[in-house]
Amino acid sequence: MKILTVIGARPQFIKACMLSKAFKSKPNIKEIIVHTGQHYDDNMSTVFFEQLKLPKPNYYLGVGSDTHGKQTAKMLTELERVMITEKPDIVLVYGDTNSTLAGSLAAAKLHIPVAHVEAGLRSFNKKMPEEINRILTDHLSTWLFCPSQTAVENLKREGIQSGVYQTGDIMYDSVLYYKPFALQHSNILSRLNLSAKTYYLATIHRAENTDDPQKLKALLETLQKMNEVLVFPMHPRTKHKIQQWGLTNLTLSPNIKIVEPLNYFDMLTVESQAKAILTDSGGVQKEAYMLGVPCITLREETEWVETVSAGWNQVTGANTQCILEAVATINVPKNYPALFGDGQSSKQICEILAGLRK
Ligand code: UD1
Ligand code: UDP
Repeated sequence: MKILTVIGARPQFIKACMLSKAFKSKPNIKEIIVHTGQHYDDNMSTVFFEQLKLPKPNYYLGVGSDTHGKQTAKMLTELERVMITEKPDIVLVYGDTNSTLAGSLAAAKLHIPVAHVEAGLRSFNKKMPEEINRILTDHLSTWLFCPSQTAVENLKREGIQSGVYQTGDIMYDSVLYYKPFALQHSNILSRLNLSAKTYYLATIHRAENTDDPQKLKALLETLQKMNEVLVFPMHPRTKHKIQQWGLTNLTLSPNIKIVEPLNYFDMLTVESQAKAILTDSGGVQKEAYMLGVPCITLREETEWVETVSAGWNQVTGANTQCILEAVATINVPKNYPALFGDGQSSKQICEILAGLRK
């Protein structure tokens, strides 16, 4: 069986690594990896292939950055060409990026069945490019691997019940596998002169925050006002927008340590040792929970509603007062339900795709 995996953005390398290892253990599965090139800087791409021992992509499409339409169109054209050449039995896509949509659309038009990992997530906000990408991908998919019960219910509401599997969250597999390596090998805390549980971690990159100068300004001002030691690995999108909106002076505060995007081991280490995490990332919200660290979500809504109900995640938007109140009231809840499965998601998905499990 030939499975063609489409990846292209940072979180997809992390999501794909454990399933790719599972495929290797099945002699009847051949995986072809296509990297769209949506993310291309070494610290957004190559470093993850090296650290997570992801096989070198069979195809690198080099699509790069552009407007949504142009970027997705370039990917679609190139992916169609690769799929016609490779004739895979299944096209596998992850998450909700433009690479996900291009992969599922190219496959569906060629009548190749699509498997979607991280299916069923909804923010119910169609202004987010991610919401459009995941709704369309779910409706084009034959296998829908859901990380949570909420995701299964979201699909049911849209009339999708066949091919839906609740397998837990594939990022949990990576966290469990790599956390011991990370804590053993990363020296990020000493490099940044930090001690465990004395600092906060912030990440901001979503278009809804970075592309609105008022919101980005409010968020940066709030981080300053927190007046706490804070590590801020900066996504290239955010760096460009800070320059474009003339906000560089707001990043100069001595309490804020702005660093380049981190590799996965350094990231897991700074996440797990933080007092709390402030983020608009989907993956980082989940990892905060998986690592037992309270989270503040700098968005108006979240897809990861279970983390909020369990008391580990507060959704504040970009509102300064709400964020500062959330920081002041952070606590570590005693309740810690198994929201994201048992860390065996990749094994289950592999067996379902191989036809070994219903
Ligand atoms: C994309 C996803 C988002 C995901 C994020 C993960 C879409 C619509 N968005 O957002 O859901 O949360 O990836 O990180 O697919 N850039 C670089 N170097 C790179 C990559 C990007 O400089 O290696 C800069 C470019 O200026 C580019 C900007 O970042 O225009 C945005 O990149 P893009 O891939 O379009 O979207 P992300 O914001 O990364
Ligand atoms: N991540 C990383 N280095 C960083 C920031 C994030 O390794 O500097 C990892 C993080 O641990 C998680 C994933 O990237 O596994 C989340 O990706 P991102 O925040 O870019 O996108 P999202 O999850 O919002 O789509």
